[in-house]
Amino acid sequence: MDDLKQKYLSQIAEAADEAALESIRLAAVGKKGEVALKMRELGKMTAEERQVAGPVLNALKDEINSALSAKKVGLADAALDARLRDEWLDVTLPGRTRPQGSIHPISQVTEEVTAIFAEMGFSVAEGPRIDTDWYNFDALNIPGHHPARAEMDTFYMHRAEGDDRPPHVLRTHTSPVQIRSMEKRGAPLRIICPGGVYRADYDQTHTPMFHQVEGLAIDKDISMAHLKWVLEEFVKAYFEVDGVDLRFRASHFPFTEPSAEVDIRCSWEGGTLKVGEGDDWLEILGSGMVHPKVLAAGGIDPEQWQGFAFGMGIDRIAMLKYGVPDLRAFFDSDLRWLRHYGFSSLDQPTLHGGLSR
Ligand code: DAH
Repeated sequence: MDDLKQKYLSQIAEAADEAALESIRLAAVGKKGEVALKMRELGKMTAEERQVAGPVLNALKDEINSALSAKKVGLADAALDARLRDEWLDVTLPGRTRPQGSIHPISQVTEEVTAIFAEMGFSVAEGPRIDTDWYNFDALNIPGHHPARAEMDTFYMHRAEGDDRPPHVLRTHTSPVQIRSMEKRGAPLRIICPGGVYRADYDQTHTPMFHQVEGLAIDKDISMAHLKWVLEEFVKAYFEVDGVDLRFRASHFPFTEPSAEVDIRCSWEGGTLKVGEGDDWLEILGSGMVHPKVLAAGGIDPEQWQGFAFGMGIDRIAMLKYGVPDLRAFFDSDLRWLRHYGFSSLDQPTLHGGLSR
């Protein structure tokens, strides 16, 4: 009896889980367990023997049963402890932090420009940043020998000797999207094309990559008057002022005839730039009536259709509106700068809700 007791009590003590405990229970005190077999032997005993062995067996059975249930409780406690340890949570930690990112001023201004022109019926068109020199130059009436090619400090893609694919460039302006949009959509057409452009140039007001927004409107009787109205509306909405003087200055671009550069009235008084007052003028864009050769290159009959176009520096107008003195800061990825000049991702610029808040 003592051996039996020792055997089962130590097995119970070592059981690792409830399944092990259950098989010990069956082997010891189950219907066909060792204790039950011993109980059966009682019948073969004499009355005296039975009087001694009976209570001992019963006591053994009780002892094993209570060791089993004590162990069961112990295992459940240990499992709970382990779970509590696993799922431990430091409730004294600070709550969730605010998102770190913000909207870059260039993205913000692109959204603002898009919202304003969308209101005037312009949709957004896009083109590749790596384009052929035909789209970037020839189709825009800038033939191979034209000085404008040299002036633009173009980045040319490398070509191995014997590679006779057409030359590709990093587009130097968004004007090639004019041609691609004419080809794709035909006339009439009313689009803006914002995006990155590239020129080999670097100082306080020039970076090798910068942003432009191209505008193009083609219809049956479009004139400079429409161009002027659209640009005036744009400038008022963008700078969030009631009236701004614009100065249209005769200029020259190969892809427009006539051409005009547009200056905006401003003041530098006290070292800060104010738009719409003062006696200074600041150039913000180039524009004009689309050259018949450019319409033809885009597959549009210049005898039937005319259009105006303009190209504006997004970074330029972002500097003006948000008082950023150095263009290079836009591309430095300095977190302190981004926190200062960035915009909330939750404020979507719209004309009715406010552009910049
Ligand atoms: N593409 C010109 C540039 O990058 C800007 C420009 C001028 C665009 C006149 C136009 C335009 O669409 O009509 O300097």
